[in-house]
Amino acid sequence: MSKPDDTKPTPPTGLRKGLTSYGDEGFSLFLRTAFIKGGGYTRAALDRPVIGITQTASGYNPCHGNMPQLLEAVRRGVMLAGGLPMEFPTISLHESFASPTSMYLRNLMAMDTEEMLRAQPMDAVVLIGGCDKTVPAQLMGAASAGLPAIQLITGSMLTGSHRGETVGACTDCRRYWAKFRASEIDAQEVEDVNDQLVPSVGTCSVMGTASTMACIAEALGMTVPGGASPPAVTADRMRVAEATGTTAVQLAREKLTIDRILTPQAFENAMRVLLAIGGSTNAIVHLAAIAGRLGYELDLRGLDRLGRETPVLLDLKPTGQHYMEHFHAAGGMATLLRELKPLLHLDAMTVTGRTLGEELDAAGPGFAQDVVKTRANPIHAQGSVAVLWGNLAPGGAIVKQSAADPRLMEHEGRAVVFENAADLAARLDDPALDVTADDVLVLKRIGPKGHPGMPEAGYLPIPKKLAQQGVKDMLRISDGRMSGTAFGSIVLHVTPEAAIGGPLAWVRNGDRIRISLSRRELALLVSDEELAARRAAEPVVPPTAERGYRKLFLDTVTQADRGVDFDFLASATRRGSVP
Ligand code: FES
Ligand code: MG
Repeated sequence: MSKPDDTKPTPPTGLRKGLTSYGDEGFSLFLRTAFIKGGGYTRAALDRPVIGITQTASGYNPCHGNMPQLLEAVRRGVMLAGGLPMEFPTISLHESFASPTSMYLRNLMAMDTEEMLRAQPMDAVVLIGGCDKTVPAQLMGAASAGLPAIQLITGSMLTGSHRGETVGACTDCRRYWAKFRASEIDAQEVEDVNDQLVPSVGTCSVMGTASTMACIAEALGMTVPGGASPPAVTADRMRVAEATGTTAVQLAREKLTIDRILTPQAFENAMRVLLAIGGSTNAIVHLAAIAGRLGYELDLRGLDRLGRETPVLLDLKPTGQHYMEHFHAAGGMATLLRELKPLLHLDAMTVTGRTLGEELDAAGPGFAQDVVKTRANPIHAQGSVAVLWGNLAPGGAIVKQSAADPRLMEHEGRAVVFENAADLAARLDDPALDVTADDVLVLKRIGPKGHPGMPEAGYLPIPKKLAQQGVKDMLRISDGRMSGTAFGSIVLHVTPEAAIGGPLAWVRNGDRIRISLSRRELALLVSDEELAARRAAEPVVPPTAERGYRKLFLDTVTQADRGVDFDFLASATRRGSVP
């Protein structure tokens, strides 16, 4: 037996991972130990698994306003399980405060997260996110970094009450703003309801992108069971945070890395859930990006196939009537997953080290409630999202059929074209605009490169003169995105986008456009010869930038079907397609 070598200092186990390049490993660890002791840590505190915790509080992000309480609960959970919690900041993104759109910065947050996970010594990480782009950014970054990771959701805000009616961000924000635009309510009332739409910290209370990504994170197996639904300000949310800390230590000990959780089975489960909850169309883009980080391509035809056989079960706005707190009271994801059971891969592994099926069995039999419908009696027989193809969208386009008017889903109309977002703003409300309710509003150049970040401008407002006549919905088409809290007969993510020369670029006023949901068709009724002539007459020059992040973005961003990620961030290894 060799004698322990007490001539060399033994660095604490928790700090050994990774190195600072001084060319002398021993010295690097010696320095690291000195500095952490400078933070007030004893030697004994350092001999245990280190659990990194991403701290994403920001004065600009009320959706993460419960961060201090969450951090306290996560730290407690980590320490109860014998780990050492180490929180560190990353970028935080809020939907309303990130200009031109939070999506422009999602990849930056993903890079920040990935590189800090790589750079700093940690054995596992707790990712705390909530507002729309934060959870996908964190999952993308963590998927690339490859260490054991667990997602903690900040949780939804409470609902408010306006003159006796339950309201919440942001479906009702849009609804009241539309009423104001149509002169149905006055300036005083729109001011009054503004006080009630966001009644607490937390994420939007409807099935917008934040709630969708929370449900998807749980469906992927990336949260503790029940991690999606508790509102931000509840004890349930704090207990989820404590359990997340405890589970992170277990993940670190078992070295259960993220690639063993984010498998093709997990992605298919996530897509089933997206379809069954009437989730945000943004989640399709995010799932494509997360999958791409692990070498999987999201197959839109496969998604459409799942959509034909997955009913919408969750009765939440904007598709239905309830809010996240009601979903939570109805048992949250366990209730939904139990109902979806025959459609799920129950053997998919989760962060607890148990499979989705094992966790569902442990969650028990459920109880009577009316927020999650049964498969026998769904809200929609088919899933929330359908994929369209045609000469207008050779790479596909998305429609949220559950939020659309069925009459407009089998429709042919005259195109009323806006060349870009500024053109739309300048002319949409012009009383002289030549437009009727049967026309098709077309907005170009709000795709990933056309309006960097692909803003949520795909929800084109109804032209004011039609809104005042009581028109509530029209067929609208763009290469942009739409907020998950919006609703209407809206075709999104037209690929390839106009700004790089997709066919959308050559649509002109008066062209006929046909949509058929039943045939999954989006057709521009213009001959190939005519389109080729227009293409030759007005060649498209893709946008570029001189320097900085904008240059990186425009030079490398992919189209919607590849997740609007930067091309160099996807995995270089191709592992196949999902679902
Ligand atoms: Fe943050 Fe809606 S603005 S979730
Ligand atoms: Mg949103």
